[in-house]
Amino acid sequence: MTTHYYTASSLDGFIATAQHSLDWLLKQDIDENGPMAYDGFRAMLGAMALGATTYEWVLAHEGSWPYTLPAWVFTHRAISVPEDGSVRLTQSDVRDVHAEMTVAAGGKDLWIVGGGDLAGQFADAGLLDEVWVQYAPVTLGSGSPVLPRGLDLELIDVARNRDFLCGRYRVLRRTPNTK
Ligand SMILES: NC(=O)c1ccc[n+]([C@@H]2O[C@H](COP(=O)([O-])OP(=O)(O)OC[C@H]3O[C@@H](n4cnc5c(N)ncnc54)[C@H](OP(=O)(O)O)[C@@H]3O)[C@@H](O)[C@H]2O)c1
Repeated sequence: MTTHYYTASSLDGFIATAQHSLDWLLKQDIDENGPMAYDGFRAMLGAMALGATTYEWVLAHEGSWPYTLPAWVFTHRAISVPEDGSVRLTQSDVRDVHAEMTVAAGGKDLWIVGGGDLAGQFADAGLLDEVWVQYAPVTLGSGSPVLPRGLDLELIDVARNRDFLCGRYRVLRRTPNTK
């Protein structure tokens, strides 16, 4: 069982603008069946976790919650969730949530959707195994950072998917690259 942070980023390392816009991302071209695209990644997954801002962005963008995977949304607020029980709100320690997700996933992998700090919280606990980033050909100058931590990573795969430069990295459990 592997825990992945899978996300798209601007070339300068932001996953959303400061206003939480993803217009810069949604205008890009990607082959949904191509290398490192979501459809292939989705087949590996058994559970997902995300922060409240990301959850609320998905709800606003899609009109309703589109995922069937068991999901944990980190928040300190009582935000609305689907009635089918597929989304749980939590403010528990990431280690406890990771353990719950592992049981729910039944041997399949876990997806940390974002934001970057939430992925960092899992990394802080030694629970983040892989980072997948699809780099869009755009710079934003500022916004939500892709992974605001000091981590050493090993590049384990790379691909082009139309507009995107796609990298897959293993998180190394050794001395962080910051002092
Ligand atoms: N480019 C991409 O592929 C991609 C992927 C994912 C996200 N995004 C975007 O990136 C942006 C990320 O937003 P963000 O930086 O605000 O991050 P976020 O993780 O989506 O949301 C942060 C919020 O999550 C809650 N939270 C985080 N850790 C928590 C913890 N340990 N316990 C309880 N609650 C916790 C808090 O919500 P409360 O204030 O409710 O307590 C916090 O304000 C969004 O605009 C999203 O749409 C882009």
